[in-house]
Amino acid sequence: MTEPIQPPTAAVTTEKLTRCFGAQCAVDNVDLRVEAGTFYGFLGPNGAGKSTTIKMLTGLLQPSSGSIRVLGKNPLDPSEAIEIKRQIGVVPDNLALFEYLTAVDYLTFIGRVFHLERQTLRERIRELLELMQLDRELSKLAKDYSHGMRKKLALAAALLPNPKLLFLDEPFEGVDVVASTMIRGLLQGFVERGGTVFLTSHILEIVERLCTHVGIIAGGKLVEQTSLAEMRAGGTLEGRFLEKLGFQPESTARLNWLEATTRP
Ligand SMILES: Nc1ncnc2c1ncn2[C@@H]1O[C@H](COP(=O)(O)OP(=O)(O)OP(=O)(O)O)[C@@H](O)[C@H]1O
Ligand SMILES: [Mg+2]
Repeated sequence: MTEPIQPPTAAVTTEKLTRCFGAQCAVDNVDLRVEAGTFYGFLGPNGAGKSTTIKMLTGLLQPSSGSIRVLGKNPLDPSEAIEIKRQIGVVPDNLALFEYLTAVDYLTFIGRVFHLERQTLRERIRELLELMQLDRELSKLAKDYSHGMRKKLALAAALLPNPKLLFLDEPFEGVDVVASTMIRGLLQGFVERGGTVFLTSHILEIVERLCTHVGIIAGGKLVEQTSLAEMRAGGTLEGRFLEKLGFQPESTARLNWLEATTRP
């Protein structure tokens, strides 16, 4: 007898998710579906609504209307929100770190919040700092970190409790080539072992290498949600992405004054 095919389980779903700031709806009636065990790339131009969506999915921002399920629970219900927080890791766009803590102190604090056993916590911190190459300046406070170092520390904090689901808002932005290669491998392994990643990135090369599925948001509206293979069918990801945004190659901007000036 053949095994019954299990329907895929969703790690994240939204229905008519909307968030308005005054008259502007930054996220407008968005229906997302992210299957568990997938690497979902959430793409869109600047100001499209990506970070606003992530903030709502992770309980950092209240929606104006609509519903959300994360790992089968409702982040808008305070009694379920805490259970979701135990199982997710988040790198938000503003990288809210504790500025007057060192990396070890910061990660120790996060580990204690998640009730990690002392020895496990010590080992994980050592491994994460080594992997992120943050183990060379251990006495430095977060406030004196470079932009890329801050990103890596935020990512280390998100990984530390071994979550089921990661929300990463532009995790590779400003991160050097060596570190981003290692982080890519790490995230791929995480998904291969059943984890789910919801990531925003403007770097399409990274999206192509990592993501199994993509969603495209523009002007607050979800304009596409499909598998990466489907998205690339008959073209490049960049070409299809620009097409979905209604960008015409011939509309490339020109600044005549910039070109007309003869420089010595
Ligand atoms: N707190 C706020 N008050 C007013 N407007 C806001 C607020 N937060 C976001 N917005 C607006 O909502 C829209 C979407 O912003 P959001 O940060 O979600 O974009 P994004 O897709 O993450 O862009 P980027 O790629 O530049 O990070 C923008 O027009 C932004 O100005
Ligand atoms: Mg953003």
